[in-house]
Amino acid sequence: MAKRFALVLLVLMLVATATACGKKDDTPAPEAPVTPGEATGLDGAALLQEKCTVCHSLDVVYAEEQDAVGWAAIIDTMIARGAQVTDEEAAAIAEYLSLQ
Ligand code: HEC
Repeated sequence: MAKRFALVLLVLMLVATATACGKKDDTPAPEAPVTPGEATGLDGAALLQEKCTVCHSLDVVYAEEQDAVGWAAIIDTMIARGAQVTDEEAAAIAEYLSLQ
């Protein structure tokens, strides 16, 4: 639980940092948009398909609008319901969904 929130906070910090860097005018580096899975190195989209369609369709998922912390909390309730997701996978899915 605490570890998952630490991961989500890491994801949020990376997203915030990347966003802040992208807004600097004097940065010569090319635009680096945050892509899903960047923070954990896992493919959140693929994990969503694999892990979150076991019990219901993704329509149920896309009906929700949450930030990464909100998604982490929802994924926690799914784990309580029986979803087989590791902390890292949960963070990747939460990151992916928060960027949708
Ligand atoms: C072990 C079964 C199971 C798995 C796997 C599962 N869910 Fe669920 N989920 C449920 C049940 C049961 C409900 C409530 C009944 C319904 O809407 O079908 C639900 C509902 C939801 C809802 C609607 C809000 C709510 O809490 O009722 C969201 C959003 C959601 N799931 C997201 C996810 C995501 C994201 C994943 C992948 C990490 C996932 N679910 C995987 C069982 C599961």
